Amino acid sequence: MNREVIIACDFQDQEKVLTFLDRFTEEKPFVKIGMEVFYGNGPAIVREIKARGHKIFLDLKLHDIPNTVYKSMRKLAELDVDMVNVHAAGSIEMMRAARRALDEKVSRALLLAVTQLTSTSEEVMQRELWIDHSMADTVRHYALNAKEAGCDGVVCSPLEAGLVAKACGSDFVTVTPGIRFANDEKGDQKRVTTPAMAHDLGSSFIVVGRSITGADDPVEAYRRAAREFAEGVQ
Ligand code: C5P
Repeated sequence: MNREVIIACDFQDQEKVLTFLDRFTEEKPFVKIGMEVFYGNGPAIVREIKARGHKIFLDLKLHDIPNTVYKSMRKLAELDVDMVNVHAAGSIEMMRAARRALDEKVSRALLLAVTQLTSTSEEVMQRELWIDHSMADTVRHYALNAKEAGCDGVVCSPLEAGLVAKACGSDFVTVTPGIRFANDEKGDQKRVTTPAMAHDLGSSFIVVGRSITGADDPVEAYRRAAREFAEGVQ
């Protein structure tokens, strides 16, 4: 498996993203562009980062009626990114609409579905979202829905990567945020693991934000994450 680290570039403005990426002179990291950057800067920032040769995960987590998701995904497909996503909670029909939009545009982007946010604990999921199941069963069920809808994989915690692979097959991609180095603060994330643990748990890709973007030496932190994730040692 080609295990890759995706850097979550959660900066407020375009200049900060590009200055951050300028630090990487030897490698071209896979970059995640989320809502904060996209809403602030629009598609131009995606085109700019692409022109610099980075692969892009456009993390906009679409969740709306199927027709709106279909039309929005057709627009996103024009940006020619490498990964896009929707919320599995939007239903199989909604995920199918996203799939259809990408297929019609002959997009090569992997379509992922978010199972449960890694900032959501099992307790909050049950008490606030009124999902009366365990986190493991919920993630498995949402992943099976995503597979049925034609998604290529899911976004989940590394803690659930194994159960997703067991339910959906080892080709089904798991993109896993909620990554921290052993000595880091968790921040708002609840279900965190280290890059090495994510390796052992079978993640296909890890998404690392603040542990790299907030490091004194982000390039060294990226290399450390890539090494730990590839080799499973920390
Ligand atoms: O800084 P940190 O490593 O916590 O960043 C994680 C990134 O992954 C954020 O951009 C967040 O939006 C995203 N994400 C997540 N949990 C999910 C899906 C996406 O943390 N289930």
